[in-house]
Amino acid sequence: MIFTNKRLFALGTLCLTFLSQSASAQDVTAELPPEVRSLLQREMVQIDAAMKSIHGAIVRGDHDVVEKQGKAIHDSFILQQSITPEGRKALKNAVPEGFLQLDQGFHALAAQLSDSGGRKDTAAQLKIFGQLTQACVTCHSHYVYERFGGLDTQ
Ligand code: HEC
Repeated sequence: MIFTNKRLFALGTLCLTFLSQSASAQDVTAELPPEVRSLLQREMVQIDAAMKSIHGAIVRGDHDVVEKQGKAIHDSFILQQSITPEGRKALKNAVPEGFLQLDQGFHALAAQLSDSGGRKDTAAQLKIFGQLTQACVTCHSHYVYERFGGLDTQ
């Protein structure tokens, strides 16, 4: 259902790509309405900032910050929050199922990170922080390869 349009669209894009002899693929968000795309970008910038402050907090043993910022990443779940129903539909239509699954897994990890802050468990924080970073790279290398061309597919 959702994917029928997308498939057709992808086929069109593929033909155009062939016609223009261009080998470069588009990022998954390239076709989103501009306001939905900019919301997603805003969320990413916030997540980026939260990850940096979590990193500093882990190495300082500042467990409260790990707990709060982990929760902030989890709560930023764009598909459930800041986005309008139409925007959500546009986003779901534009991205493949694998992207949505990665997004869900990513937010689940953020919740685990927050919990490990609450437990003052530095070893768990280190492990989950690494898994979260892996999740950033996995999603970017699969779905944002045009913008982030420096990433190999992980
Ligand atoms: C489920 C997929 C997914 C995950 C997971 C993900 N990102 Fe992103 N990220 C994107 C997409 C898609 C874009 C490109 C948005 C655009 O330009 O249309 C992006 C863009 C960004 C940007 C650029 C924002 C801008 O436009 O200025 C930053 C920074 C970023 N991500 C950081 C992160 C960090 C840090 C993580 C992990 C903690 C992460 N992302 C995890 C999908 C993801």
